[in-house]
Amino acid sequence: MSPFTMTRTLPVDTTTAALREDVTDGLTRTPKRLPPKWFYDARGSELFEEITRLSEYYPTRAEREILIARAAEIADATGARTLVELGSGSSEKTHHLIRALPDLRAYVPVDVSESALELAGRALLTEHPELTVHAMVADFMNGLTLPDTPGPRLLAFLGGTIGNLLPSERAEFFTAVSSLLSPGDALLLGTDLVKDEATLVAAYDDAQGVTAAFNKNVLAVLNRELGADFNPADFDHLAVWNAEEEWIEMRLRARKELTAKIPSMDLAIHFAAGEEVRTEVSAKFREKKVRTELAAAGLESRRWWTDAQGRFALSLAVRT
Ligand code: SAH
Ligand code: AVI
Repeated sequence: MSPFTMTRTLPVDTTTAALREDVTDGLTRTPKRLPPKWFYDARGSELFEEITRLSEYYPTRAEREILIARAAEIADATGARTLVELGSGSSEKTHHLIRALPDLRAYVPVDVSESALELAGRALLTEHPELTVHAMVADFMNGLTLPDTPGPRLLAFLGGTIGNLLPSERAEFFTAVSSLLSPGDALLLGTDLVKDEATLVAAYDDAQGVTAAFNKNVLAVLNRELGADFNPADFDHLAVWNAEEEWIEMRLRARKELTAKIPSMDLAIHFAAGEEVRTEVSAKFREKKVRTELAAAGLESRRWWTDAQGRFALSLAVRT
């Protein structure tokens, strides 16, 4: 068997149908909103990688610092033979974990971005030719089933992507993850932490405008996939700290009154001048909230590690 296989549980027509549903639901309501998973076509995945290298965007560096410092402890605590990674993207930080896991046999990256999985899988096999890489094009929010690989399994959800789910989706997600874990398996969860507003806003509104391009890329996805006629130049990028919810909101604000047409859906979407679409929430956490949400899904956080500046945390949890 080839050491690299790619399974697609998200057929292209299902993806388009899901996008249509999200557009119908999200852009005909007030206020308008779209789920963030639609950022990640090939261009969006590239732009996200660019974001991770920006001086303002600290989460990737902070999480990498923790992974490097704690990889051996994670290996000791889990003895993982399979590493499953949800929303794996480039899998760049994951190399630190893979190198530290002596018994690892299989790596299962799961992502909606097929281009990211291709690139990441090939890079991993160059460095770890002994590994079986079973890439899965799948939506981790939608009935995820895992391939039959050796246990114990370590399920990693890194980058703070958990913060991109709404609270009800998080609860649903943790319950689904809990049911995927057998005794001896573990969850490694990356969470960005609450901090001062200026640092947070700068991380989501960088001086070079890379995050603005990432945010506007969702309009290019709607144009290509649905034949919409959005002009990205008609929108401004916004990053706003919502202190009550403790999340950053990314929004696109119409610079003038406009109507975007999607003939394939027989839909015309009207924007008043200044009207906004919320395109992403990025929740920031405190330790107690992470523990409480995990516990509600039958998961117990056994370790909590932060970077030296206390910006980001990794938790290691097991099923109780
Ligand atoms: N884990 C990486 C990448 C984070 S970017 C890191 O820490 O740098 C978020 C990733 O999650 C993207 O690659 C995106 O394509 C993927 N993603 C977002 N929503 C998803 C969903 N519902 N199902 C599967 N993958 C998803
Ligand atoms: C993938 N996710 C954790 C990123 C975040 O920080 O919420 C996505 C992102 N959005 C804007 N910049 C990065």
